[in-house]
This record gives sequence, structure tokens and C-alpha cells, in this order.
Amino acid sequence: MTTTRPNVLLFGVGSIGSVYAAILILSKRCSVHVVARSNYDALQKQGLTLRSSKFGDHEGLRFDGVYRTCEEAANSGTRFDYVVCSNKALLDAKPSLSDILQPVVTDGTAIVLLQNGVGVEEPLHEAFPNNTVLSACVWTGAKVLGPGEAEQFNREGLTIGVDHAEALSAEQEQKQLDVFVEMSRAGGSDVTVCDDIQSERWVKVIWNACWNAVTTATQLRTNRFLEASPQAMMLSRAIMGEVVDVARAKGLTVPDGSVDKLIEQCTSVKDGLPSSMLDDYVAGRPTEVEVILGTPLREGLRLGVPVPSLIAMYSIIKALDWKNAHPEEAKI
Ligand SMILES: *[C@@H]1O[C@H](CO)[C@@H](O)[C@H](O)[C@H]1NC(C)=O
Repeated sequence: MTTTRPNVLLFGVGSIGSVYAAILILSKRCSVHVVARSNYDALQKQGLTLRSSKFGDHEGLRFDGVYRTCEEAANSGTRFDYVVCSNKALLDAKPSLSDILQPVVTDGTAIVLLQNGVGVEEPLHEAFPNNTVLSACVWTGAKVLGPGEAEQFNREGLTIGVDHAEALSAEQEQKQLDVFVEMSRAGGSDVTVCDDIQSERWVKVIWNACWNAVTTATQLRTNRFLEASPQAMMLSRAIMGEVVDVARAKGLTVPDGSVDKLIEQCTSVKDGLPSSMLDDYVAGRPTEVEVILGTPLREGLRLGVPVPSLIAMYSIIKALDWKNAHPEEAKI
């Protein structure tokens, strides 16, 4: 760790990445660097624009470095104290996230995960056993408005904690967490520190596993899906219930009544909801099926927890993903 301002590298500047890049720049507590692919030119020339009722409107927020790849970031000679992953979580992508991050993760670099889903930490611990992994759930609405421009809406909150690495002392991990929390708060983020981040992530994935899967499989908003048959609610409850069972079999804490609460939260939205997975599918992009359905399913099978609904939804979404990736072969 440097004694001066920490160097932070963000990997992925879509909607969520843009919000947290802006928060870190606004904190004035760190140097903020970014690896950007499609929006490299815009970020390099104009900086980042964030429109937000919570953080205000900011144009031309400047990075200390904009790079096309992690190799380029590493070749700049900067050593990164934090590498923040705000890219999509695609567990089966080749090259893997760990492979991509290899050049920028050095001694003492803390990896921060701002990704959806569960099971994202394990491959990173395997690849970087001596690096701190901070894992977070992001609670915000955000969308990309154009190259280098994003909007933040609704509330914003970050729940973050250490995902403990066997080789490291809790004290060292805690110090790296504290500094990151301090910077994020200075930038205006509502940060909650959580000492059981795995339970937090699994509770969040109960929602995603159900609503992302049913909206994508049917290409309907949640209310339309639920209105189409009485069995739709039975399926929704079954999916959620299986994720709860798997999380508890892992020894994680899921509050009683979680499923009822999540059903109520969704059905109380008058016009129902689409989902990020549905957006991805419709846009022809790969979905985050592995971290949203795949990990719960595999953990269920490993622990002997029955997961028939997860098997059904996973296999359907995988087929839709395949269809997007193979439009010619997919013709009926
Ligand atoms: C992690 O640290 C241990 C002990 O210092 C060392 O033997 C090992 O090679 C390191 N592993 C990696 C991947 O850097």
C-alpha cells in the first residue's frame, strides 16, 4: 500500500462502473484509472459524464489513466492498490477474469468485486491466493446514456465486506477494506460494512435467480408472467425456495420470510419489472446465467439439496444464450 493516495483501477465502465468511477473521482482521495473498451475514445477525450439526482450532474470527470487493456494499464508503471471489477460476471468466459487481471494484480493489490451473483470470488482466490478480495452488493439504478455518459437513479448503496483469503491475516484484509470504504464514503456512497458478505450476496441472488430467469425465459415483464397462469407464482416460489435451501445448506444466514418479502416487493410494482438478464438477452449479449443460476444449481447438486426448478430455468436460459451465440444453427 502506498502512503500517498491509493491508485484505483476500474475494470469495466458500463452503468455500474461509471457510477463508482464517478464516486471515487469525486472523493478526491485516490487516483482513478480505468480499463475501457468500447468507450475508450470518449473517456480519453471528454472524461466521464454522470447524471444523478443523488450525486449531481458532472461533466468531464477526469481519470488519471485511461487504458484499452490490463496490459496497457500495467505497462504505465502504476501499481494498483485496488482493482475494482465492475464488468459483467461471466464465469465461463474465455479468457477468464483472473487471466485478464493477471498483469494488474501485484503484491498487496486488493480486488474489489462490484458484480452480481454468487461464486465470483472463488476463481479469484485460486488465481490470487495472496491478495485481499473485497466483495460487494450494489444497490442502485444506473444506465448508460452514451459513450462515456451514464445516469444514476433511485437510491444508491454499497454493502461490502471481506471475502476471507486463507493465506492472509484478517487484520490486513480489514485495513484494505477500511480504506476503500473511507474513499467511497468521501465520494458520497452510502456504504454498509458487512461481516457476512456471502449471506448478503446469496440473499440478493434469491431475487435475481427468480425474476431474471422467468422474465428472460418468457420475454415478459414480471406482472404479465404472473398473470398468465396461477402456476407462475408456484414456480417463482419454488425457484426462490431452492436458492434459500442451498444457501442455508452452505451455512449461510437467510432471514425467515425472505421469499414472501421478495415476492411482495415485486408484485407491489404496478407495471411489473423487466430484468438485466432480459435486457442482455434481447440485446444479443451473453447473460450472467452462471453466477445467477449456475452457482446455486451446482452448489445444490454438490450438497444434495433438490433443485429441480433451478435445473429447469438454468437449462432454458443456457439454451437462449446458445441461441444468441449461434443464430444460424439456431434456425428451426
Ligand atoms: C503466496 O505467498 C506464499 C507465501 O509467501 C508463496 O509461497 C506463494 O508462492 C504465493 N503465491 C502466489 C500465487 O503468489
